[in-house]
Amino acid sequence: MIPYGSQHISDADIEAVVEVLRSDFLTQGPCVPKFEEKLCEYSGMEFGVAFNSATSALHGACLAMGISAKSRVWVPAISFVASANCAEYCGAKVEFIDVELDTACLSMEFLENKLRLAELEGTLPDLVIAVHYAGQYCDMATLKVLSQRFHFRVIEDASHALGAEPPEAWGRAWAGDIRVYSFHPVKMITTAEGGVALTDDRGLAESMRMFACHGIQRDKDKWQYPESGEWYYEQQTLGFNYRMNDVQAALGISQLQQLPGFLKRRREIAAIYELNINLQQRVNQGKYGLSSYHLFPVLVDVQISDRVFSQLKAAGIGVQKHYIPILNQPYYRDKYHYPLGSCPQAQQFYRQTMSLPIFPDLADQDQQYVLEQLSQFL
Ligand SMILES: Cc1ncc(COP(=O)(O)O)c(C=O)c1O
Repeated sequence: MIPYGSQHISDADIEAVVEVLRSDFLTQGPCVPKFEEKLCEYSGMEFGVAFNSATSALHGACLAMGISAKSRVWVPAISFVASANCAEYCGAKVEFIDVELDTACLSMEFLENKLRLAELEGTLPDLVIAVHYAGQYCDMATLKVLSQRFHFRVIEDASHALGAEPPEAWGRAWAGDIRVYSFHPVKMITTAEGGVALTDDRGLAESMRMFACHGIQRDKDKWQYPESGEWYYEQQTLGFNYRMNDVQAALGISQLQQLPGFLKRRREIAAIYELNINLQQRVNQGKYGLSSYHLFPVLVDVQISDRVFSQLKAAGIGVQKHYIPILNQPYYRDKYHYPLGSCPQAQQFYRQTMSLPIFPDLADQDQQYVLEQLSQFL
């Protein structure tokens, strides 16, 4: 089976991991802070907190923002469930925003209409989670304007988008309050499991670090009941053990060095797909800057989509659906009873979409085989 995504592990990656295994520190050694530093450098953000997954990074980000049972959090209907679950863990009320049919990113038109209504009803959100679907930024420029006008904060779930580039026209002021990347094996780089939360806000970074490490405060200037003994630390809030370890971070540092090559290869593969598949039959990944092409989703006529999916699978092509709308999941259905039709474009997208194989080691002849198989249907 040709998978839709897969990691590339080099000899240098293996050596980096073995080096840590032979060292004194498997967990909190020098690699985690070094990886955080390199990720800050790469993304141009000031503070980085490494987590053991993007899911825990999203949860830590929500907690640092004070999301609680009193909060409202709005999430795009098309994403992996973790984008919404992070708010559920905090007890917040989650609502769903429809997506654009051409990009599957947050629909700013839908969002603005919902915000205007919520303003009248006094039900504005505290936080919007913006997902950069498939590796393309969502319309952060418009989202920034809306966030200022309606006073909500923004977490970017950029799990797919390490290496994406925003449109030049956006200038600099477009980033969310916190951006999260995932390092799951199918993502742009991997640490086996892992994630990071990046921010320019020192307070949010310090708070996320505490939540990632049991709620423990190690800065003695911030202790509430200081003691002089060297053993002393304070648990000031209820945190979690969400820390990344040094084995993962060593792999991450080595992978990050290879990211330019990974991006180049993914973009080459995407260019060949794009030459062969017209714009109406694929997600438009050129609308908001340059995509990292974590995914290559195509859109197949609803009448034949399920059959095409099965036939491609039968032909050894590991297509996958990204994603079932989150509001369709039994947990969300039973809890909120939102009509599925409240996000009609997400439902249509779900019925039509399937992601084709794209990853750095995809062989040219395998891509050609995928295109041949697909050409019978498109
Ligand atoms: C959009 C999105 N958000 C969050 C996650 C969760 O990432 P992780 O597996 O690192 O927890 C994923 C993973 O698939 C994802 O695709």
